[in-house]
Amino acid sequence: MKLLVLNGPNINMLGIREPDIYGRETYDTLLEMIRTHCAERGVEVECYQSNHEGDLVDKIQAAYFEKVDGIVFNPAAYTHTSVAILDAVKAVSIPTVEVHISDVESRDAFRRVSYIREACVAMICGRGLRGYLDAIDLLIEQAK
Ligand code: DQA
Repeated sequence: MKLLVLNGPNINMLGIREPDIYGRETYDTLLEMIRTHCAERGVEVECYQSNHEGDLVDKIQAAYFEKVDGIVFNPAAYTHTSVAILDAVKAVSIPTVEVHISDVESRDAFRRVSYIREACVAMICGRGLRGYLDAIDLLIEQAK
């Protein structure tokens, strides 16, 4: 099984950015957690982060041609704005789990809007970095 963990804008700033909301763990720590978790389960994983909408669209399209089995995706602020990202996820038909570190349901009203949600098999939010690992387990379980 081959997974892609995709992160949108400012996720590379974990540990620095608003630690009261996103915690003190860094993006590197997140990568380490994901790689260990996948290695323990015999799953191949690629992690990619970009601050640019078009890059994320390109990566989603590439996942189709690379025969990726599942995507764990935190589109960050693009969650609330991007039809292009929604269309990309729909185009590739790869099971995708939407992840948010914070509880987007209990923050600003605009964070309750998700363009991508309708194209995802599940949404996990408010579990901190653990949410990414739960999303990986969910995709592994669904692929059985
Ligand atoms: C986020 C929530 C978004 O509203 C925000 O724009 C982010 C991060 C989260 O992981 O909680 O950048 O996706």
